[in-house]
Amino acid sequence: MTLKEAYATHKPLKFSFMIDAYESLIGMIGGAESVRKLVEIGVWKGNSLRMWHDALPNARIIGVDIPWTVSAFKLREDRIEVMIADQSNPEQLSEVSKEAMGADIVVDDGSHKAKDQIDAFLALYRHVRPGGLYVCEDVFLNYNEHFTTQNEPTMLDLASEIGCYLQIKAVNMPDIARYMQIKDEDLQDLKPSNIFSVIAGCAYGRRKSTISMDVVEQVTSSTKSVMFFQGLVAFQKGDLPCSEST
Ligand SMILES: C[S@@+](CC[C@H](N)C(=O)[O-])C[C@H]1O[C@@H](n2cnc3c(N)ncnc32)[C@H](O)[C@@H]1O
Repeated sequence: MTLKEAYATHKPLKFSFMIDAYESLIGMIGGAESVRKLVEIGVWKGNSLRMWHDALPNARIIGVDIPWTVSAFKLREDRIEVMIADQSNPEQLSEVSKEAMGADIVVDDGSHKAKDQIDAFLALYRHVRPGGLYVCEDVFLNYNEHFTTQNEPTMLDLASEIGCYLQIKAVNMPDIARYMQIKDEDLQDLKPSNIFSVIAGCAYGRRKSTISMDVVEQVTSSTKSVMFFQGLVAFQKGDLPCSEST
């Protein structure tokens, strides 16, 4: 069954334009048959898990949700499992990260709170397989007062920062130093984050985000691309696993 057919059959709580995005994304990582493990935070009635089950014929589908939306926990279909965990709880996220080990795709369709989205991303992204995908849905809520507090960084902020930092990776340090007319003897004092500051204008107070530069640097080191679609943002891992501290 194609993803579109599975979407029409099971009617998950997702917009149809998200399904178009998922079709492109799954195509990018080798197609539906190549997906072996998908983890989704946010199960609700289990309809998206059933959709993934039918569209990804070789995948283990692991749903994650908090206990009070229990109807989905009755799901007992072959290749579908549901675990109870709260993405705002670090210990429980760490349990989820064990399940996410080597996942081809991790989807966050859980609380939609900006902080939870970032915490889940930082806990789970490093466990996505090289070349795999991390997708965060409903990011149009990122600046809605019910899902974030003012000045708190959001997933869209983090994604933009990583996209920005990827540009720095495109140019090597000596090239940048030459371009900026930095003397050879001063080159060793330049950390990538300083370079980023200068190039991206952060040194001049234009960097608004409060996300730590170390986090941005570490995540970017294992990221191949950041993709913005209507309603969601997707990160594709590079060929190397994330460093442990990410
Ligand atoms: C939009 S629904 C998920 C819809 C489902 N993915 C689909 O497409 O049909 C959001 C789900 O996230 C769950 N949720 C809310 N806060 C959560 C949290 N802190 N941790 C894990 N799940 C959470 C809710 O219980 C709810 O079932």
